[in-house]
Amino acid sequence: MNKTVEGILKQDDYTRDDLITLMKIDNQEDLNRLFKKAYEIKAKYVGRKVYYRGLIEISNKCIKNCKYCGIRRDNTHVERFDMTRDEVLEAAKWIYEHNYGSLALQSGERQDEEFVSYIEDLLREIKRLSNGKLGITLSLGEQSYETYKRWFDAGGHRYLLRIETTNEKLFKKLHPQDNHHTYEVRKRCLEDLRDIGYQVGTGVMIGLPGQSEEDLVDDIIFYKNMKIDMIGMGPYILHHETPLGQEWKEKVISEEKRVELGLKMIAITRLYLKNVNIAATTALQGLDPKGREKGLLAGANILMPTATAQQHKNKYLLYDNKPGIEDSVEQCQQSMDEKVLSIGDKIMYGEWGDSPFFKSKKSK
Ligand code: 5AD
Ligand code: SF4
Repeated sequence: MNKTVEGILKQDDYTRDDLITLMKIDNQEDLNRLFKKAYEIKAKYVGRKVYYRGLIEISNKCIKNCKYCGIRRDNTHVERFDMTRDEVLEAAKWIYEHNYGSLALQSGERQDEEFVSYIEDLLREIKRLSNGKLGITLSLGEQSYETYKRWFDAGGHRYLLRIETTNEKLFKKLHPQDNHHTYEVRKRCLEDLRDIGYQVGTGVMIGLPGQSEEDLVDDIIFYKNMKIDMIGMGPYILHHETPLGQEWKEKVISEEKRVELGLKMIAITRLYLKNVNIAATTALQGLDPKGREKGLLAGANILMPTATAQQHKNKYLLYDNKPGIEDSVEQCQQSMDEKVLSIGDKIMYGEWGDSPFFKSKKSK
């Protein structure tokens, strides 16, 4: 006999079939049960606590050409920018002075020596200006082992690199077939990062045409098998100037469904992995004004308020209708604070907020 959702949620461990049943929940009652259980697991394993990562989008130049992304190389309508060294350090200082425990540097991908050493220098400076106190996450794409190692030695200690989907056929559909966008390299990068000693984050896009509930469950199982410490994932959102934004206009499931799937992914990941860090992402908020709060209630414990220089914010557009680009950094912080407090979680100012999972691996 098929198990009920209620029955599955009483278990402590889950089979792949259990996870698929949860992913296919199609009624509000069971959905509420799922979110409630995921929030309980969050409270038990990581606490009702939220950590901030101040996000600095340092450049929208990119050598890659992902077919879903607004700042892909071939999009000639994008005005390309680099934040200057001073702008980045000023943003880092703001984040430090406002007592966020850590920041994240994100940009399009570049692998040239000028970029690699620029980042190295920034890392050292950020360490210096914060007396070694700010945690630093990098989200700068695929790099060689040597580059990852240089950045680690300079002070980066967490790295986010999304696998995007573990369905390799779909991965091929998402990327040009030009040898610069392969699943094998992406996966090898995640292994290199772990090998070097980073806390490793990954994630996927949710609600892609051709992506099944089984695929999403396999993504979660991938996180577990790869011993991933942090998860950042969100709904896929069309960008009108991209190949897939055009092709998938009529094919993509409704925004409500994508938000619902995104929340299910957070909740089921929390149930299955328990003590990792999970972000409620901007993309979730992009499709639902209450997306971030809902993400926290479904088990997320990380928020990434942007601290990108105001004059550049409207150029870092991976998808259409990105929220918050008009807000000042202060407004971003205030609206985040209100969101967290409204659901009764506590904001953990001034702490790195490493996942208990990472700490438990280290002490083994
Ligand atoms: N919709 C949602 N997420 C996107 N990303 C890029 N383009 C989109 C889009 N159109 C995500 C990818 C990438 C991260 C930086 O942003 O998952 O890894
Ligand atoms: Fe570049 Fe990242 Fe966009 Fe791909 S998803 S085009 S690597 S910024």
